Amino acid sequence: MGLFFTCDQFLMLIALITVCTVSDCYDPLDPNGNITVTFDINQWIPEGYLARVTIRNYYQYRHVDKSGWTLGWTWANGEIILSMAGAFATKQGNCSSFKSQTAPHSCEKSPVVADLMPDALPETRTDDCCHGGVLAAWAINPSKSFSSFEMTIGNLGVNPKVQAPINLTLMASGPGYTCSSVEDVDPTAYSDIGGKRQLQAYRTWKSTCTYSSFVANQAPVCCVSLSTFYNPKITFCPDCSCGCREADKNTVSCIGEGYDAPGSGSFDNIVQCTDHMCPVRIHWHVMKNYFTHWRVKVSISNYSYRRNYSNWNVVIQHPGFSQSTTAYSFNSTMLPSFGLSDEVALFWGIEYYNDELVNAVSTQILLRKDLDSFTLGNGWALPRRVYFNGEDCKMPLPDTFPMLPNDCSSLKPTSPVFLLFIYLAFKTFDK
Ligand SMILES: *[C@@H]1O[C@H](CO)[C@@H](O)[C@H](O)[C@H]1NC(C)=O
Ligand SMILES: *[C@@H]1O[C@H](CO)[C@@H](O)[C@H](O)[C@H]1NC(C)=O
Ligand SMILES: *[C@@H]1O[C@H](CO)[C@@H](O)[C@H](O)[C@H]1NC(C)=O
Ligand SMILES: *[C@@H]1O[C@H](CO)[C@@H](O)[C@H](O)[C@H]1NC(C)=O
Ligand SMILES: *[C@@H]1O[C@H](CO)[C@@H](O)[C@H](O)[C@H]1NC(C)=O
Ligand SMILES: *[C@@H]1O[C@H](CO)[C@@H](O)[C@H](O)[C@H]1NC(C)=O
Repeated sequence: MGLFFTCDQFLMLIALITVCTVSDCYDPLDPNGNITVTFDINQWIPEGYLARVTIRNYYQYRHVDKSGWTLGWTWANGEIILSMAGAFATKQGNCSSFKSQTAPHSCEKSPVVADLMPDALPETRTDDCCHGGVLAAWAINPSKSFSSFEMTIGNLGVNPKVQAPINLTLMASGPGYTCSSVEDVDPTAYSDIGGKRQLQAYRTWKSTCTYSSFVANQAPVCCVSLSTFYNPKITFCPDCSCGCREADKNTVSCIGEGYDAPGSGSFDNIVQCTDHMCPVRIHWHVMKNYFTHWRVKVSISNYSYRRNYSNWNVVIQHPGFSQSTTAYSFNSTMLPSFGLSDEVALFWGIEYYNDELVNAVSTQILLRKDLDSFTLGNGWALPRRVYFNGEDCKMPLPDTFPMLPNDCSSLKPTSPVFLLFIYLAFKTFDK
């Protein structure tokens, strides 16, 4: 045992460091993103209180898709849910000891609540309810990024104590969220009479839930490939970006192009066989060099036979984006760049046109040249970081980027380890 690593060990060590710095700890492109859950007590009733629960998605580009959110907690005392509107508890539990006129909605110590579908009956609805658990991303559609339900709570105990629930858990199309403890905060204010009168909740409790791909333990979902007009070389997605073919039986399985996918339910993650094995690939092609602009084509391809990526979104970090960036066939907006040296843009599909990723969708983008920061050398016309639906996409290593032909010999890497190191240093320091 010495202080020297073999090349493989060195690469492994660096890879481990990157895994932590880039993906889990927090998202450098959306450091304030969170889902907040507030409980507003709006009325005392003889049995207890009436509360309105609101779930707000403040993630810029991470949505909750149609398998939907579920929210769980543990009551501090023996509380029960007498009635609920706008959502439902998944279990009624044992209500045999409560002699009320109507059966309580849920007597579980740790209830789990799920959203109603948009076709819910009028008497089971409340304002802002019933989206089938779907929450849009904040930067894409703030008016659909929150959801509410109401409940009446009883059985507070012999010396009625009004205590916040504990151990809030949020599942938002799967695991990955960790919620802070539920705390008393300033009561929520509401406006009434067209904003002329202000009302306020009796009491408000709040918890903030944050996502970590490390906690979600999700397999990578996408990879990036690159090409340019100035170099015939195509840089493919790194091999095994999202899993390896056959070698490891636990990874996603695949079927060849042209074969029919097996019946539903057999494999959830089944993809078309490729060297990258990703369900989604994003290709960046630098098409043309104009006097003042670059023209780029971005294509998003679906290799998954099972997942329905409707309402997809893509985040791209690139030094050449600006408010004047034009995307022809996608909806787009700039995101705050939080001190990064590059600009960050968010793209998503146009409703009824390309918001579903059936085979592939693409757009051309015009990027204005800023000669100080944006040149073709060293792959600068290429993106720095790409996310699909909030998940980090696997990028090729810079030594495989298409280079300017006349720069090729002088930029030729001397050692792959050295280049990898430079690349990781880049990824680590540019946050
Ligand atoms: C949650 O997001 C909101 C809106 O971006 C932000 O104001 C708030 O500070 C965030 N909370 C936490 C704990 O990060
Ligand atoms: C339901 O609760 C009652 C009263 O607490 C208890 O006597 C009974 O055993 C419980 N039933 C079950 C199936 O747990
Ligand atoms: C809340 O969660 C913590 C940590 O998981 C656990 O130790 C504790 O027993 C839980 N409390 C209740 C009342 O379930
Ligand atoms: C994908 O899901 C959307 C929304 O649920 C649905 O309208 C659409 O038909 C689905 N597409 C496919 C190809 O399954
Ligand atoms: C792409 O997506 C749709 C569902 O949105 C799916 O039915 C289709 O089989 C997918 N995969 C391929 C390789 O086309
Ligand atoms: C772009 O997105 C916004 C918000 O979702 C929407 O109001 C607008 O209609 C979209 N534009 C197009 C062209 O789809």
